[in-house]
Formats: sequence, C-alpha cells, structure tokens
Amino acid sequence: MDDLKQKTARFLAAHGMAPESVDLDRELRTFVREMEEGLSGHASLKMITTYVSPDGEIPVGRPVIVIDAGGTNFRVALVIFDEKRAPVVEDLKVHPMPGTQGELDCDDFYRTMASYVLPLADRSDRIGFCFSFPVEMQPDKDGVLIQFNKEVLVRGAVGKLVGANLRKALADLGAKGEKSVVILNDTVATLLGGKAAFPDRRFDGTIGYILGTGTNSAYAEDNARIVKSPTLRGRPGTTLVNMESGGYTGYPQSPIDKELDATLSDPGVHTFEKMISGAYQGGLLLRTVAAASKDGLFSPRAARAFAALSSLSSREIDLFCFYPFDARNVLAGCIGGGDSAEEKSDRQVLYHLVDAQFERAARLVAVNLAAAIVHTGRGTDPCLPVCISAEGTTFYKSKLFRGKLDHYVKTFFNDRLGIYCDFVQADKSTLIGTAIAGLIG
Ligand code: BGC
Repeated sequence: MDDLKQKTARFLAAHGMAPESVDLDRELRTFVREMEEGLSGHASLKMITTYVSPDGEIPVGRPVIVIDAGGTNFRVALVIFDEKRAPVVEDLKVHPMPGTQGELDCDDFYRTMASYVLPLADRSDRIGFCFSFPVEMQPDKDGVLIQFNKEVLVRGAVGKLVGANLRKALADLGAKGEKSVVILNDTVATLLGGKAAFPDRRFDGTIGYILGTGTNSAYAEDNARIVKSPTLRGRPGTTLVNMESGGYTGYPQSPIDKELDATLSDPGVHTFEKMISGAYQGGLLLRTVAAASKDGLFSPRAARAFAALSSLSSREIDLFCFYPFDARNVLAGCIGGGDSAEEKSDRQVLYHLVDAQFERAARLVAVNLAAAIVHTGRGTDPCLPVCISAEGTTFYKSKLFRGKLDHYVKTFFNDRLGIYCDFVQADKSTLIGTAIAGLIG
C-alpha cells in the first residue's frame, strides 16, 4: 500500500469508518435475526406487511392513474396494459416532491399532490400510489404514515391515512367519483415491475431493492412466518413484505455518522440509510473530510476550502470521481487542477476517503441483500438465481459503487454463502409495478 493510502486507512480505522470493520458474516447473522424479530413484533426492521400478493393476472385495457411520490420527485401518469400485457405510459408529468422545497402542513401537502393528479382524475377510478416512506399498511391497502425521512418536511401528517387524505384533497378540488387507492412502497412497486418485465426468465423469487436518495428492500414472505399478522398467519401463500431496511440500527454508527445524524431532521432513526444512501453521502463526506483536515491529512489550503463548503450532493461526489482534475467541480475545485505535490496528495487522500465511503456502503448493502436471500433459503441453485429488481441513482450512477457490490456478490454470496442472484433493471419499474398493484390490489 502506498503511503497516502496507508495514512488514510489509519485515519478511517481510528474514526470507526474503515470498510473492513464491517464483518460480513457477523453482520449477516445480526441482520437475519433482526428480520425475524421484525416479523414477530418490534425491531428496527419494521418488516411491514403490504397485503399485496406477488402474483395476480394483469387486467388488459383498463387505465389506472399512477402516482410515484419519492424523496426528490413526484411523478404522475396514466398506465394501461395492451393485449400483450405490455404497459403503455401516457401523460407522464414530473414535479418536485412536496415537502422538499420547504416545510408544508398536512393539508397543503395533500392539496399540492392532488393538484398534480387532478388533470388525470376523470380518466380512471383506480389509483396506484407509490409512497416511498414508512407506512403501516392496512388490509384495505390504505396506509398510515409512520414517519417522513430523506429530509422531506411536512407537519402533522404522521399517524394519518395517506390514501384517504389524497382522496379527500381530490374531492375538495372538484374531482368526481369515488376512487380506489392502493398505497404501496417503491420497493414493492419495483419488485412487481421487475417481475412483470421478464416473464420468460425463471428465478427463485424476486427482491425489490432501492438505493437512491433513500434505501429499502422488499421480498415475498411465507404467510406462516409473518407471526405478527393475525390476518395472514393462518393463510397459505406468500405476501410482499416491505423491510424498511434503511431503518436498521444493528450496525453501530461511528462518531462521524453520529455527528451527521445530529444535524438532521430525524436524528437517531434510519441510521443504516444515513450510512449508504444518496441523500446523506455529501454530508457524510464533508464531515469525514473535516475530521481528516483536523488530523492533518490535507494541506491547510485544501482544508480551508473544504471547510467553506456548506453542503455537498452525491452528484458532486460523482463528478469528482469522474473528473478529479477538473477544478470546475466543487471538490476538485477545493484542491485545484494542477500537478503540484500538494495538489496530488490532497487529490489522492480525498479519493481514498470517497472510495472507502463507497466500499463501506457496498459491504453494508451486501449484508442487507444476502440477509433477504439467506432468510428465505432461496437462490442456492446457480441456474435459478434470486432476481433483484434494483432502482435508484446511487445504485446505477455512482461510479464507484456497483463494481464494489459485484465483488461482494462473487466473493461473499457465491463463494462463501453459496447463494446466487441476478440484478435486473426494468424500464420504469416503479411506475409499472404501481400500475399493477393499482389494478390488481
Ligand atoms: C423510505 C422507504 C423507501 C426508501 C427508498 C426510505 O427512506 O423509508 O420507504 O422505500 O427510502 O425510496
């Protein structure tokens, strides 16, 4: 190892941020145990029963209004499946997610969403509503909001029904007729959309996985194992479970993780998500860089420039990874684009810190996904892998992430655990999966 790499590794270890401190085997056991506890009652993994079945025939020629409310965007469209059961998406509109541009109260939140849906309101009496936040699902497929995260700020919405409030806001704006609203999580939608997109391939089950602004996973659970649900326990078959894996607290926060967490709107919760997903990468790196500056890893000039940054996005981290010499991007700009010894050293130290952040994230994601596979006992035949329908900007766009995850799929999943998976990306999987749930739910 070269000097700078060694120095950075020592710094990361001293601050509890070293990727190797994620002991894959031990963390896997803890994660699986937490899944089981979540299925029987209370655990940091909420293991939310969705009451949506992974199977069901898609009705042809019936339009459904589809809403996708995420951590960044709010999308609305009309979806219809043609005779070949291929989805046709019409009138797709993208708006900023209400609550991301300043705090709203509950009525304004639903009114804003309803105003975006209104232009399509008379085109269908069915709405599939993908709501990417923790929601306690009801057997009638409405859901009670448990909390907001990803820094979406809305007052007074927690504890209230999402579907009923949207229906009311639509009626208040003059929409005619009763609408049936099916609420589902984006991981559940991604799972359904991924499953529908590859009908000819054989898989040993499907996982829906998101790593974008936030993170989460969903999978099909045997009803018999959903101990906490009196409605499902006695019934044969499987039900989709939204793990809310971003909420896992089994992996300890380092002092740097804690420092970031204390500045957020929801300290102490969703700590796993805050270590790996896009909304937090910039904040985490800025704090790591500040600690490294204090420990003398950067030149005083770079340290001063980093300290002047008030925020940093995951996109800006990625720009540095692609263009480390281009001082037009924020991070490279703090260092300078030249070849002086000081600039070279600053640039390489920063690279090692970014790399380690993604390496730790890849190890934690590997634990999360392996746990979902190991718990279900699936994917042991390499010809019949588990399908992981994955979505999210961090998963697909971060230069350093995917190669690292694939490394752990080979060395940890295949070679050590003897489990196999295939990642698939289905076109518009969230919208399509939401349409399916809106129609069959
Ligand atoms: C939310 C999940 C969601 C995930 C991905 C998390 O912050 O709690 O419900 O699935 O982000 O969007």
